Parts: sequence; C-alpha cells; structure tokens
Amino acid sequence: MSDDHRVLLLGPPGAGKGTQSDRLAAEYGLDVITTGDALRNNKQMDISDLGLEYDTPGEYMDRGELVPDAVVNEIVVSALADADGFVLDGYPRNLDQAEYLSEQTALDYVFLLEVPEAELIDRLTGRRVCAACGETFHVDFDPPEEPGVCDVDGGELVQREDDTEETVRERLRVYEDETAPVVDHYRERDVLVEVSGEGTPDDVFDRLVSQIES
Ligand code: AP5
Ligand code: ZN
Repeated sequence: MSDDHRVLLLGPPGAGKGTQSDRLAAEYGLDVITTGDALRNNKQMDISDLGLEYDTPGEYMDRGELVPDAVVNEIVVSALADADGFVLDGYPRNLDQAEYLSEQTALDYVFLLEVPEAELIDRLTGRRVCAACGETFHVDFDPPEEPGVCDVDGGELVQREDDTEETVRERLRVYEDETAPVVDHYRERDVLVEVSGEGTPDDVFDRLVSQIES
C-alpha cells in the first residue's frame, strides 16, 4: 500500500492511540512516532541545563504532567526527518506544539479517538506492558495467556508508573486543560475526523481504515 500517509492520532490517555498506531503502521508501512515511548526510554535523561522545574523527563511523567516543549519538539523533529509516511501518537499535546508541528510537516488525516472517561480509567489501570519488548496487554480486555507473562517473548509484564488511578486522573485533567484545545484547533480547521474508540481494537481499526480508504 501507499507509504506516504501522514496520520495524526489524537485522544485522551487510554483511548487506544498506541494500539491503533501499531496496526496502522503495519497496514500501511508507516513509521510510528510516539513521544510517550521516546520519553519513557529517556526518563532519566539529564535536562537540568534547560533550567526547568525538574531535571529529568521522568519527574514530569510520573506526576502525569507534560514534559516541556523544548524536550519534546526535539524528539519529534528528528523522527520526522527520518520518516516518509508516519502515525504520530501523543504529539501535539498543547497549542504551542501544534503550531510547531505545522511548521515541520503537513498532515493527511487527523483522527480523534473518543472513549468515555470511566472506560479510560479501566483501560489504563488494567494495562500491563512487557518490560522486555514493550508489548501492551490488559488484564481483562486483552489478557496474556499466562498472567504476568508476555505472549511474545516470555518477558515480565509490569504496570506503568503513571497508570495508578491517582495519576491517571491527573493525566485526564492535563488532557482537558492542555490537549482539548488542540482538538478544537483541528476541528476549527475542518480537518478533524472523530472516530469512536469503543468496541474491540479490531472494531476501532476497521473504522480508521474505512476513513482512510474512503
Ligand atoms: P503517552 O505514553 O503518550 O501516554 P497517553 O497519551 O497518556 O496515552 P497512553 O499510552 O496511556 O494511552 P493510549 O491512548 O496509547 O492507549 P493504549 O493503546 O495503550 O504519554 C505519557 C507521558 O509522557 C505524558 O503524561 C507526558 O508526561 C509525556 N508526554 C508524552 N508526549 C508528550 C508531549 N507531546 N508533550 C509533553 N509531554 C509528553 O491502550 C490503553 C489500554 O487499553 C491497553 O491496556 C490496551 O490493551 C487497552 N485497549 C486498547 N484499545 C482497547 C479497546 N478497543 N477495548 C478495550 N481495551 C483496549
Ligand atoms: Zn514481550
């Protein structure tokens, strides 16, 4: 298939952005650009020279707060330089990031995954991630064959530090304050396509594909 789709997936924490990004990337031969994973791989990076509130990305992340734009923009610009087609997951998360992105690239599709808040909390608090390969599971909605063990490589499944109920609520609050205006920004420009994120991952994927193919 075409390798030049430029897709942005928006949605609150737990809406299924990571799940669907991987599927879209496989279907269309795209790169996944995810600031969340990039930051998790660099949680202890020393950013003290930027003179910000905290000295590492992890200190922001474990509180459910946004990592400062200077750090995040840098990640995105270098990933974009290496990608033809891409799925962008987790960026932009505030209006300044959206502005910066518009200076770097155009977008072909902007999707918003919509899921009710109670379900978001269930999805996030039940999420488990393989410490070895990063594969995502859910204790109820997508359980591994053996509890606590990755189906792919037998790695240990762990809970993300920001997936406790308290931090999930803070992340949802930050989403409303900082990222909902980004959604409005694309809606006002008539490029936002709202897609239900409810049902199974297959259901959601079919909705996204039918939008791309239509
Ligand atoms: P990030 O990693 O981007 O987290 P998030 O946006 O909060 O999104 P999640 O990864 O939690 O959810 P998701 O929508 O990908 O859902 P998933 O598919 O995994 O960011 C983490 C932190 O990094 C931020 O808080 C911030 O500190 C920092 N950061 C990142 N980007 C930044 C930026 N641009 N600027 C500043 N700071 C930034 O699914 C969730 C669960 O549900 C899984 O268990 C899955 O199995 C299950 N599931 C998925 N789909 C379904 C379905 N259809 N039905 C049932 N269960 C499902
Ligand atoms: Zn694994």
